[in-house]
Amino acid sequence: MKVLKKIPEVPGMLTRHEGEYLYRLAQLDPGKGVIVEIGSWKGKSTIWLALGSTSVGGEEVYAVDPHKPLADEGYMEDTEAEFRKNINAAAVDSRVVPMVMTSEEAAKGWSKPIRLLWIDGDHRYEQVKRDFLLWEPHVVEGGIIAMHDTIRKKGPKRVLWESVFCSNRFRGISIVDNITAARKVRKTSIWGALTKWLTIGCRAFYIAARKIRIPYAKPFGRWILRRLTT
Ligand SMILES: C[S@@+](CC[C@H](N)C(=O)[O-])C[C@H]1O[C@@H](n2cnc3c(N)ncnc32)[C@H](O)[C@@H]1O
Repeated sequence: MKVLKKIPEVPGMLTRHEGEYLYRLAQLDPGKGVIVEIGSWKGKSTIWLALGSTSVGGEEVYAVDPHKPLADEGYMEDTEAEFRKNINAAAVDSRVVPMVMTSEEAAKGWSKPIRLLWIDGDHRYEQVKRDFLLWEPHVVEGGIIAMHDTIRKKGPKRVLWESVFCSNRFRGISIVDNITAARKVRKTSIWGALTKWLTIGCRAFYIAARKIRIPYAKPFGRWILRRLTT
Protein backbone atom coordinates (compact mmCIF):
# COMPACT_ATOMS: atom_id res chain seq x y z
CA MET A 1 0.00 0.00 0.00
CA LYS A 2 3.07 2.29 -0.10
CA VAL A 3 2.20 3.38 -3.64
CA LEU A 4 -1.48 3.94 -2.81
CA LYS A 5 -0.45 6.61 -0.29
CA LYS A 6 0.99 8.65 -3.17
CA ILE A 7 -2.34 8.92 -4.97
CA PRO A 8 -3.73 12.01 -3.21
CA GLU A 9 -0.59 13.94 -4.15
CA VAL A 10 -1.39 13.66 -7.87
CA PRO A 11 -3.56 16.59 -8.97
CA GLY A 12 -6.89 15.55 -10.45
CA MET A 13 -10.64 15.64 -10.18
CA LEU A 14 -11.30 12.28 -8.52
CA THR A 15 -12.44 11.84 -4.95
CA ARG A 16 -10.72 9.17 -2.88
CA HIS A 17 -13.85 6.98 -3.12
CA GLU A 18 -13.89 7.34 -6.90
CA GLY A 19 -10.21 6.39 -7.10
CA GLU A 20 -10.74 3.33 -4.93
CA TYR A 21 -13.73 2.37 -7.05
CA LEU A 22 -11.69 2.55 -10.27
CA TYR A 23 -9.08 0.40 -8.54
CA ARG A 24 -11.75 -2.24 -7.83
CA LEU A 25 -13.19 -2.06 -11.35
CA ALA A 26 -9.71 -2.60 -12.78
CA GLN A 27 -9.43 -5.81 -10.75
CA LEU A 28 -12.49 -7.38 -12.42
CA ASP A 29 -12.09 -10.17 -14.98
CA PRO A 30 -8.35 -10.02 -15.68
CA GLY A 31 -7.48 -11.82 -18.88
CA LYS A 32 -10.63 -10.71 -20.72
CA GLY A 33 -9.28 -7.52 -22.27
CA VAL A 34 -7.32 -4.34 -21.78
CA ILE A 35 -8.38 -1.19 -19.95
CA VAL A 36 -8.91 1.98 -21.97
CA GLU A 37 -8.97 5.43 -20.41
CA ILE A 38 -10.23 8.42 -22.42
CA GLY A 39 -8.82 11.52 -20.72
CA SER A 40 -5.84 11.07 -18.40
CA TRP A 41 -4.83 14.67 -17.66
CA LYS A 42 -2.07 14.33 -15.02
CA GLY A 43 -2.59 10.63 -14.45
CA LYS A 44 -4.63 10.40 -11.28
CA SER A 45 -7.25 7.95 -12.60
CA THR A 46 -4.60 6.21 -14.75
CA ILE A 47 -2.67 5.35 -11.59
CA TRP A 48 -5.69 3.96 -9.76
CA LEU A 49 -6.58 1.83 -12.79
CA ALA A 50 -3.03 0.60 -13.30
CA LEU A 51 -2.60 -0.27 -9.62
CA GLY A 52 -5.87 -2.21 -9.66
CA SER A 53 -4.93 -4.14 -12.78
CA THR A 54 -1.39 -4.82 -11.51
CA SER A 55 -2.76 -6.21 -8.23
CA VAL A 56 -4.45 -9.04 -10.18
CA GLY A 57 -1.77 -9.49 -12.85
CA GLY A 58 -4.13 -7.88 -15.36
CA GLU A 59 -3.68 -6.17 -18.69
CA GLU A 60 -2.31 -2.74 -19.54
CA VAL A 61 -4.13 0.56 -19.27
CA TYR A 62 -4.20 2.40 -22.61
CA ALA A 63 -4.24 6.04 -21.56
CA VAL A 64 -5.61 8.21 -24.37
CA ASP A 65 -5.11 11.97 -24.10
CA PRO A 66 -3.61 14.52 -26.51
CA HIS A 67 -2.26 16.35 -23.42
CA LYS A 68 -2.31 19.57 -25.45
CA PRO A 69 -3.90 22.84 -24.44
CA LEU A 70 -7.51 22.69 -25.74
CA ALA A 71 -8.88 26.17 -25.15
CA ASP A 72 -12.41 25.24 -26.29
CA GLU A 73 -12.61 22.64 -23.56
CA GLY A 74 -10.90 24.67 -20.85
CA TYR A 75 -7.61 22.71 -20.78
CA MET A 76 -4.93 25.37 -20.84
CA GLU A 77 -1.71 23.43 -20.30
CA ASP A 78 0.38 20.70 -21.86
CA THR A 79 0.17 17.89 -19.32
CA GLU A 80 2.25 15.15 -20.98
CA ALA A 81 5.46 15.71 -18.97
CA GLU A 82 3.59 15.80 -15.67
CA PHE A 83 1.51 12.76 -16.64
CA ARG A 84 4.67 10.73 -17.38
CA LYS A 85 6.37 11.97 -14.20
CA ASN A 86 3.37 10.94 -12.07
CA ILE A 87 2.98 7.45 -13.53
CA ASN A 88 6.73 6.89 -13.09
CA ALA A 89 6.60 8.09 -9.48
CA ALA A 90 3.72 5.67 -8.81
CA ALA A 91 5.77 2.89 -10.43
CA VAL A 92 2.99 1.98 -12.88
CA ASP A 93 4.73 3.09 -16.08
CA SER A 94 5.24 -0.52 -17.20
CA ARG A 95 1.47 -1.16 -16.95
CA VAL A 96 0.45 2.04 -18.79
CA VAL A 97 0.54 2.58 -22.56
CA PRO A 98 0.30 6.35 -23.15
CA MET A 99 -1.50 7.18 -26.39
CA VAL A 100 -0.77 10.87 -26.85
CA MET A 101 -3.56 11.62 -29.32
CA THR A 102 -7.28 12.25 -29.37
CA SER A 103 -9.88 9.57 -28.76
CA GLU A 104 -10.86 9.66 -32.48
CA GLU A 105 -7.24 9.13 -33.57
CA ALA A 106 -6.70 6.31 -31.08
CA ALA A 107 -9.91 4.55 -32.16
CA LYS A 108 -8.74 4.32 -35.79
CA GLY A 109 -7.65 0.74 -36.37
CA TRP A 110 -8.21 -0.25 -32.72
CA SER A 111 -8.87 -3.98 -32.45
CA LYS A 112 -8.13 -5.11 -28.87
CA PRO A 113 -10.98 -6.34 -26.67
CA ILE A 114 -11.64 -4.01 -23.74
CA ARG A 115 -12.80 -5.23 -20.32
CA LEU A 116 -12.99 -1.76 -18.76
CA LEU A 117 -13.68 1.48 -20.63
CA TRP A 118 -13.28 4.64 -18.55
CA ILE A 119 -14.58 7.82 -20.22
CA ASP A 120 -13.35 11.09 -18.71
CA GLY A 121 -12.30 13.20 -21.72
CA ASP A 122 -14.09 16.15 -23.29
CA HIS A 123 -17.37 16.52 -21.36
CA ARG A 124 -19.45 18.22 -24.05
CA TYR A 125 -22.43 16.14 -25.23
CA GLU A 126 -21.36 15.49 -28.85
CA GLN A 127 -17.85 14.58 -27.73
CA VAL A 128 -18.96 12.21 -24.96
CA LYS A 129 -21.38 10.58 -27.39
CA ARG A 130 -18.60 10.24 -29.95
CA ASP A 131 -16.29 8.61 -27.36
CA PHE A 132 -19.06 6.22 -26.37
CA LEU A 133 -19.92 5.25 -29.96
CA LEU A 134 -16.28 4.84 -30.98
CA TRP A 135 -15.21 2.66 -28.07
CA GLU A 136 -18.27 0.81 -26.75
CA PRO A 137 -18.28 -1.76 -29.59
CA HIS A 138 -14.83 -2.95 -28.40
CA VAL A 139 -16.05 -3.64 -24.85
CA VAL A 140 -16.44 -7.37 -24.32
CA GLU A 141 -19.70 -8.89 -23.14
CA GLY A 142 -19.55 -8.74 -19.35
CA GLY A 143 -17.14 -5.78 -19.56
CA ILE A 144 -17.66 -2.47 -17.78
CA ILE A 145 -18.19 1.07 -19.01
CA ALA A 146 -17.56 3.75 -16.40
CA MET A 147 -18.06 7.46 -16.96
CA HIS A 148 -17.11 10.49 -14.86
CA ASP A 149 -19.13 13.63 -14.10
CA THR A 150 -22.42 11.84 -14.66
CA ILE A 151 -24.26 13.80 -11.97
CA ARG A 152 -23.07 17.38 -12.43
CA LYS A 153 -22.22 17.72 -16.16
CA LYS A 154 -24.89 17.78 -18.86
CA GLY A 155 -22.91 15.97 -21.59
CA PRO A 156 -22.02 12.76 -19.72
CA LYS A 157 -25.41 12.80 -17.99
CA ARG A 158 -27.31 12.84 -21.29
CA VAL A 159 -25.14 10.16 -22.90
CA LEU A 160 -25.63 7.98 -19.84
CA TRP A 161 -29.42 8.29 -20.19
CA GLU A 162 -29.54 7.69 -23.91
CA SER A 163 -26.90 5.00 -24.29
CA VAL A 164 -26.85 3.15 -20.96
CA PHE A 165 -30.02 3.67 -18.91
CA CYS A 166 -32.39 3.37 -21.90
CA SER A 167 -30.53 0.43 -23.43
CA ASN A 168 -31.29 -3.20 -22.57
CA ARG A 169 -27.60 -4.05 -23.10
CA PHE A 170 -26.49 -2.67 -19.72
CA ARG A 171 -27.25 -3.81 -16.21
CA GLY A 172 -25.79 -3.56 -12.70
CA ILE A 173 -25.62 0.22 -12.50
CA SER A 174 -23.21 1.43 -9.78
CA ILE A 175 -22.83 5.00 -8.64
CA VAL A 176 -19.85 6.24 -6.66
CA ASP A 177 -19.88 10.01 -6.27
CA ASN A 178 -19.66 11.31 -9.85
CA ILE A 179 -18.82 7.97 -11.47
CA THR A 180 -21.53 5.78 -12.95
CA ALA A 181 -20.57 2.31 -14.15
CA ALA A 182 -22.57 -0.44 -15.86
CA ARG A 183 -21.93 -3.93 -17.15
CA LYS A 184 -22.45 -4.70 -20.83
CA VAL A 185 -24.62 -7.75 -21.43
CA ARG A 186 -26.26 -9.41 -24.43
CA LYS A 187 -29.74 -8.58 -23.10
CA THR A 188 -30.97 -7.56 -19.64
CA SER A 189 -33.27 -9.97 -17.78
CA ILE A 190 -36.52 -8.71 -16.22
CA TRP A 191 -34.84 -8.80 -12.79
CA GLY A 192 -31.81 -6.94 -14.19
CA ALA A 193 -34.10 -4.27 -15.68
CA LEU A 194 -36.02 -3.93 -12.41
CA THR A 195 -32.91 -3.42 -10.26
CA LYS A 196 -31.49 -1.06 -12.87
CA TRP A 197 -34.57 1.18 -12.78
CA LEU A 198 -34.69 1.06 -8.97
CA THR A 199 -31.12 2.35 -8.91
CA ILE A 200 -31.97 5.04 -11.46
CA GLY A 201 -34.94 6.03 -9.28
CA CYS A 202 -32.68 6.41 -6.20
CA ARG A 203 -30.29 8.47 -8.28
CA ALA A 204 -33.09 10.78 -9.47
CA PHE A 205 -34.25 11.22 -5.89
CA TYR A 206 -30.70 12.13 -4.80
CA ILE A 207 -30.30 14.67 -7.64
CA ALA A 208 -33.66 16.29 -6.82
CA ALA A 209 -32.81 16.44 -3.09
CA ARG A 210 -29.52 18.19 -3.94
CA LYS A 211 -31.30 20.71 -6.17
CA ILE A 212 -33.89 21.73 -3.62
CA ARG A 213 -31.12 21.86 -1.03
CA ILE A 214 -32.50 19.44 1.52
CA PRO A 215 -30.05 19.59 4.45
CA TYR A 216 -27.40 16.83 4.33
CA ALA A 217 -28.85 15.53 1.01
CA LYS A 218 -25.45 15.63 -0.69
CA PRO A 219 -23.26 13.65 1.76
CA PHE A 220 -26.08 11.34 2.81
CA GLY A 221 -27.26 10.68 -0.76
CA ARG A 222 -23.72 9.96 -1.95
CA TRP A 223 -23.19 7.60 0.95
CA ILE A 224 -26.46 5.74 0.31
CA LEU A 225 -25.85 5.42 -3.44
CA ARG A 226 -22.34 4.04 -2.85
CA ARG A 227 -23.68 1.44 -0.45
CA LEU A 228 -26.69 0.52 -2.54
CA THR A 229 -24.82 0.06 -5.78
CA THR A 230 -21.27 -1.18 -5.26
C1 LIG B 1 -11.27 15.84 -16.77
S1 LIG B 1 -9.71 15.65 -17.50
C2 LIG B 1 -9.27 13.99 -17.08
C3 LIG B 1 -9.00 13.82 -15.62
C4 LIG B 1 -8.31 12.54 -15.27
N1 LIG B 1 -9.09 11.38 -15.66
C5 LIG B 1 -8.01 12.52 -13.77
O1 LIG B 1 -8.32 11.53 -13.11
O2 LIG B 1 -7.44 13.47 -13.25
C6 LIG B 1 -10.09 15.54 -19.19
C7 LIG B 1 -8.93 15.23 -20.12
O3 LIG B 1 -9.49 14.87 -21.36
C8 LIG B 1 -8.58 15.23 -22.36
N2 LIG B 1 -9.29 15.30 -23.65
C9 LIG B 1 -9.99 16.32 -24.17
N3 LIG B 1 -10.44 16.01 -25.40
C10 LIG B 1 -10.03 14.75 -25.65
C11 LIG B 1 -10.18 13.86 -26.76
N4 LIG B 1 -10.85 14.21 -27.87
N5 LIG B 1 -9.61 12.63 -26.67
C12 LIG B 1 -8.93 12.26 -25.55
N6 LIG B 1 -8.76 13.05 -24.49
C13 LIG B 1 -9.30 14.29 -24.53
C14 LIG B 1 -8.03 16.57 -21.90
O4 LIG B 1 -6.77 16.80 -22.52
C15 LIG B 1 -7.95 16.36 -20.38
O5 LIG B 1 -6.64 16.00 -20.00
